[in-house]
Amino acid sequence: MQLLKRQAGRQAGRNAVASKRATRGPARVSRGAALQVRAVAAPIAPATSTGAGGELPYRMSDVVMWSESKRIQTQVLPVAEDTVTIRSLDWDRDRFDIEFGLENGTTYNAYLIYGADKTALVDASHEKFHNLFLEALQKELKAAGRSLDYVFVSHTEPDHSGLIPAVLDLYPEATVCGSKVCISFLQNLTHRPFKSQAVKGGDKVDLGGGHVVEFVMAPNLHWPDTMFSFDHATGVMFTCDAFGMHYCSEQPFDADVKVLMPHYRFYYDCLMKPNAKSVTTALRKVKDLPYTMIANGHGPILRYNVSELVGDYGRWSAALGKGATSVAVLYASDYGFSDRLSQTLAKGITKAGVATEMLDLLSADPQEIVAAVGRSAGIVLMSPPRDSADARTSLAAVSSAIKSKTKVVIAESYGGRDEPVDVLAAQLQDVGAELLAPPLRLKDLPAQATYQLFEEEGTDLAQALTAKESIARKKAAMSADVAKALARLSSGLYVVTAQHNNARSAMIASWVSQASFEPLGLTIAVAKDRAIESLMQVGDSFVLNCLGEDTYAPVMKHFLQRFAPGADRFEGVDWSPAPTTNCPVLSDAIAYMECRVASRLETPDHWVTYCEVINGSVTNTAARTAVHRRKVANYY
Ligand code: FEO
Repeated sequence: MQLLKRQAGRQAGRNAVASKRATRGPARVSRGAALQVRAVAAPIAPATSTGAGGELPYRMSDVVMWSESKRIQTQVLPVAEDTVTIRSLDWDRDRFDIEFGLENGTTYNAYLIYGADKTALVDASHEKFHNLFLEALQKELKAAGRSLDYVFVSHTEPDHSGLIPAVLDLYPEATVCGSKVCISFLQNLTHRPFKSQAVKGGDKVDLGGGHVVEFVMAPNLHWPDTMFSFDHATGVMFTCDAFGMHYCSEQPFDADVKVLMPHYRFYYDCLMKPNAKSVTTALRKVKDLPYTMIANGHGPILRYNVSELVGDYGRWSAALGKGATSVAVLYASDYGFSDRLSQTLAKGITKAGVATEMLDLLSADPQEIVAAVGRSAGIVLMSPPRDSADARTSLAAVSSAIKSKTKVVIAESYGGRDEPVDVLAAQLQDVGAELLAPPLRLKDLPAQATYQLFEEEGTDLAQALTAKESIARKKAAMSADVAKALARLSSGLYVVTAQHNNARSAMIASWVSQASFEPLGLTIAVAKDRAIESLMQVGDSFVLNCLGEDTYAPVMKHFLQRFAPGADRFEGVDWSPAPTTNCPVLSDAIAYMECRVASRLETPDHWVTYCEVINGSVTNTAARTAVHRRKVANYY
């Protein structure tokens, strides 16, 4: 890691932020909204900062460059009575491994609670913020004349806990409170003794002055270690990853919910939807707590739209829970890439409307595994470390519970000590399981194409499990007459092509329509379980290739074939990169348009994707667009 302090001072930092803002659209929060923050008794930062006019009560640090080109910065402000946030702004983080689609950086939010008697820090930050975060923390505590009595650790993934060891170096008397699993993970992380208190749901810590903090266990949101902390004095609930989003801006709250919504939803789909049952359980546990603010770990803090946004989690999770088919995804937390890759597989599964249950082979109770495997139509097994006794016990539980003909996906975790996947495959086949495909093997660090492969494998598994019911559902959706009438709707034939880094994809599209003049815009309906859907998030670019009426047949035949997960859809196809977006333009296209996704409207099984056209050209002026004519409307 390389930290290079930028020479420029605070003003340069503001300029950088202002410039970034310009690329992301205006921050529409009103000054009034920010000033509604209640005055705090504790010594938060005098309101020295530094927003647009210097009036907003938050303090920004200098901008520091990480890894030469990525801007990082901290922001400190009060969020409630005696409660201060230290937000680590990671302006240029491209994307988390699996969440390719949105490019708005992220934040890691930590909080200080100043009780009358004791002071607690809730979570910390990513190690890249070592100097910035510790400086901000020490400054705050020094101004308050306080030390740290507690560190409440909601979750031990390094983006929140990477600096916990450094915090404990500075404040060795602090007691770490976390779930049992969390304390055990932290012991591996710190490699030295520290004061700790493993807490259970309903346990409380009294910081004085009414700040009684109650803990709520929220396992699997999204690791087994996760817990929420609720402060009875302020109504603030600290939730770490849950209810977060990857969106970096100087605006600390959720004032502009319309802008934030696609990010909030995409984050839910990637991280929380695979744990929909656990989301529902956690919501049930907190339903009687009078929370008025969600102090999350990523993105804007939820303050203005709490009930609506929390309600969305409930609605989305309940919708998935209605499906009868479920897959158990068995992974090894904090080992290699097991968690990220398993989430990617789970995302691919849930895209196709099948529910998942994530279980950690290293910490789940064997009975829990037996129950989950027994009720699952499919299993995903990420290879655990071969030297783990816990993993061996869990694998025995899987073998004992798996039903004959259960479809299984097995994959390497790239952890360095993986149980060989061929051994795992043989063990499960011995007890009657069926492999969906050969085990997924990793020769290098996972790249974007790897995540694309894993997501597509997940979707393939879900489709294999639901093929029969899906056909029956389509047939039952409408009468034959209506289906024939609706099929008279027709439009042109197109190929959508998209590319990001080393991942690219394509699909035949015919549900395409112009949708606006200014700007020139169009809509494309994309089925939720399409592979290309992951590359067509808000802000993503793609090319719409028009097919000619005399030349469309071979192109259509090629792109309609069923591709194996991770297969190159462009093999044997002539194409060149589009001038603006670099996405593939097919040589057989008679015209093409480069588009950027502006928004998405959700229907039960498609995303209606509204896109602005940013460039285009006709490459064969004599040809007319092919028309897609159908016999019935319940199939493409
Ligand atoms: Fe934001 Fe799971 O860490």
